[in-house]
Order: sequence, then C-alpha cells, then structure tokens
Amino acid sequence: MSVEKKSNENIVVVDRLKKFFGQKKAVNGITFEVHAGEVFGLLGPNGAGKTTTIKTLLGLLESTEGWVKVFGLDPLKDEVQIKQRIGYVAEEPLIYKSLTPRELFEFIASIRGLNGKMVTAKAKEYMESLGALEYMNQTIATLSRGNKQKVQIVSALLHDPTLLIMDDPLLGLDAKTVKVVKEIIELQVKKGGAVLFSTHIMEVAQELCDRIGIINNGLIVGIGTFEELRKQTDKAGANLEEVFLRLTEQDESVNTIIAKLRASFLGNNHRT
Ligand SMILES: Nc1ncnc2c1ncn2[C@@H]1O[C@H](COP(=O)(O)OP(=O)(O)OP(=O)(O)O)[C@@H](O)[C@H]1O
Ligand SMILES: [Mg+2]
Repeated sequence: MSVEKKSNENIVVVDRLKKFFGQKKAVNGITFEVHAGEVFGLLGPNGAGKTTTIKTLLGLLESTEGWVKVFGLDPLKDEVQIKQRIGYVAEEPLIYKSLTPRELFEFIASIRGLNGKMVTAKAKEYMESLGALEYMNQTIATLSRGNKQKVQIVSALLHDPTLLIMDDPLLGLDAKTVKVVKEIIELQVKKGGAVLFSTHIMEVAQELCDRIGIINNGLIVGIGTFEELRKQTDKAGANLEEVFLRLTEQDESVNTIIAKLRASFLGNNHRT
C-alpha cells in the first residue's frame, strides 16, 4: 500500500456504466473512481465484468449506457491522448508474436515517438528485473506463457505512463516475478501515478490496494479500503478472501461444493 499522500484528483471515473452483449448484461451499472496516487484493485469471480469494464476505459468497447472518463477525457473520442498516458497490460497478450522482444520494443519506441536508445536501455533493465533478459532476441511466439506476459508488462512501461491498467497481470507468473511486479505497482504510485488492476490473488490485493472494488454479476457489491469492506461484512478478523466470498455470496455455496466433492472423491466414509 502506498505511503504517499493521496490526491482527490480523479484519474478514472466510471459512472453507472452498463455494457450488454445481446441479452448478456456483462456490466450492469458500475460506478467507481481511481484517484491519483492510488492502487485500485478490481476483484470479482470469473465472468463478473472486470475485463469488460477495463476495455471501456481503453476505448476498446463502447458502453451501452453510462460513461467513463480517463484523465477527464472520453476514451472513444480522445483515444490517442489517453493512450499516451496509459500503460495497458491486457488479459490476453496483444503483442506481435512474430517479433522478438527487442524488435517489439523498438517498434513501440518508433510508434510512440520515444528515444530509441533510452527505450532499449529501459527495456533491458526491466527485462532483467523480470528475469527475462535472455529472451530479448527470441521470437515471442516461442516464449513460455509467463515470459510472454513479462514482455507485455515491459511494453506497457516503456513510455512512462501515468496510469497503469493491468488486467490480471500476475496470471502465470512465478513467485519471484510476482514480487517484482508488485514492486513495479508500488513504484508507479510512489512516483505519483496510479494503478488500476484486476486480480484473483486475494493476498496481493489485500497487500497492495489502497481501495478495492468488488464486482459480481456486473454490479459493484463492495467498494473501499480493505477495512471498510471488512466492516460491510461484519466479519471481524476476516481476511480479504473471506470478505470477498461473503460479498459475492459465494461463501456458503463453496462450502456445499467442497462437501459434495469430498463425498464424491472419497466416499461418505472418509468425510473429515
Ligand atoms: N464479446 C462478448 N460477447 C458476448 N459476451 C461477452 C463478450 N465479452 C464478455 N462477455 C461476457 O460478459 C461477461 C463478463 O465478462 P468479463 O470478461 O468482463 O469477465 P471478467 O470479470 O473479466 O472474468 P475473468 O475473471 O474470467 O477474467 C461474461 O459472462 C462473458 O462471457
Ligand atoms: Mg477478465
């Protein structure tokens, strides 16, 4: 959690956002803000609407109702201005797989109008901290999933963005890399930027997030600091996982599922 003084400046505003795909109400009226200097975590079960929400912030999806603003701008109208200030790590890597990381970073430098030498030096430094320097000249398609993810993370950092938006950035990363990415998130806010990220790793969210928004079935079911969320559930001493399962009304169903699985796997005689 960042120790810097928080600003009330809203970097992201999501206001009564709805996004429907045909009959499917993927996002059904979500409101939250991300302030300068804060790490905001989006949590929610699979299919809750996190990626859909994030994509509207990048202008990759158009809202059905409601609106979003990033840096006070409309992502659909001011896409270029916004993208200059955002580093985006997509759920599924959007990177050019036929290139090597070095070629990709050079390409990013050229399209973003960045100094090539500085970008190369920065890319090398980040790739080294993520334990992937040895893959600089290997075609991205041939890299392991985790190493592809590292390339995507480095790509998002090269232009020194004010806002980092990362959709499940820790997916598939080893323990050492998770530690480094957590540090990147903290440094991003220490230098005055902001981070909006989604994750399924409750310990990471509890440790890093200044505020958390919990989404379930396209709706926010809890928002605030971990302590504020805990108060909402009346579960003194609960960790974020317990608070999350309560707010998403999964705590009882998960216990039933586990009991059934135990009976099915082990037979009724082995229940513990
Ligand atoms: N292009 C689409 N067409 C139809 N339905 C979609 C589309 N994109 C998303 N959905 C549906 O919208 C819902 C929300 O999906 P979304 O990807 O936002 O979930 P998520 O919270 O990111 O889940 P996960 O944790 O699995 O990444 C899901 O039911 C999904 O199937
Ligand atoms: Mg998703």
